[in-house]
Amino acid sequence: MTKYENSILLGDCRLLLKDLDDDSIDLCITSPPYWGCRDYGTDGQIGIEQNPFTYVDELAKIFALVKAKLKPDGNVFVIIDDVWVSNWTRCRKNTWISSKDGDDEGISNEDIPDKCKIQKNWPKTLGMDWFKAKQKMLLPERLVIKMQEEQSWFFREKLIWFKPNAGNYTNIHDRFAHAYEYVLHFTKSQYYFVNMAAIKDPETGKLQRDVLPIPIERSKSEHSAVFPKALVELLIDFSCPANGIVLDPFCGTGTTLVVARAMKRRYIGFELSEAYHKIAVERVASGEGVRGSGKNTSLLEWA
Ligand SMILES: C[S@@+](CC[C@H](N)C(=O)[O-])C[C@H]1O[C@@H](n2cnc3c(N)ncnc32)[C@H](O)[C@@H]1O
Repeated sequence: MTKYENSILLGDCRLLLKDLDDDSIDLCITSPPYWGCRDYGTDGQIGIEQNPFTYVDELAKIFALVKAKLKPDGNVFVIIDDVWVSNWTRCRKNTWISSKDGDDEGISNEDIPDKCKIQKNWPKTLGMDWFKAKQKMLLPERLVIKMQEEQSWFFREKLIWFKPNAGNYTNIHDRFAHAYEYVLHFTKSQYYFVNMAAIKDPETGKLQRDVLPIPIERSKSEHSAVFPKALVELLIDFSCPANGIVLDPFCGTGTTLVVARAMKRRYIGFELSEAYHKIAVERVASGEGVRGSGKNTSLLEWA
């Protein structure tokens, strides 16, 4: 039996990952907190680093740990979004939460204490003149480059999770409505487990395209960053063998684990927040299901 198999553990994934058996995980599907977007209110949380480049370094260290625990033919999918450089940040203890849109929309400047405004000398101290409000930071891309160049991951592809039911944000005045996130696919080796039947039309042989239109599922659990079960279902069907082990080191309310269990895979989840950990444990115990066969036929557009 693999260590922690079918468990959801409360704690910092940076410590818990070290405890896992080496070369034991078939598939890791995870969505780390995005930089500066949310304060989960827990000490040790990822995503509230004052410097976004420290965030990328921290994430890369976590994926180095994941790599050691992954089987040689294992797969990793990281669901992640980028952030804009913002004019302001909010403080909570030592945390820095940035304005998501790189603007001051909805916030009155008088409400923001000076010490919370973005440090005007950041571009200078970071040696990056471009680091100005409204610039996209390219944090997912920076993470990929680090993992590729410093950790010898195979960066296999960048899928786009398109959210057809994302809001149109009528208050934005100088850009398009943002409606996608990246699903970054990494492997440990050049050859890895795949089940092509999951993404191939049996009659025509046509493949699922790399833009995945999957609606956001409204969460009943109060967690504002839950990913849809249909996305996890597709990824497990595609990249985890029968009875394989699925890991989510940032499991939140346990969506990855719920789907893994329903699809008869073993699962391991880590979560730092007590409240989300409790929800994850309850959801998995309730036997919450998926749509059935593990085939996302409604997602696939063959034409
Ligand atoms: C984007 S959410 C994941 C949501 C999840 N996919 C779901 O469906 O509910 C990221 C989660 O990572 C957790 N987290 C942040 N830092 C952590 C750490 N160091 N170790 C473990 N979990 C952490 C947060 O509490 C949050 O619930």
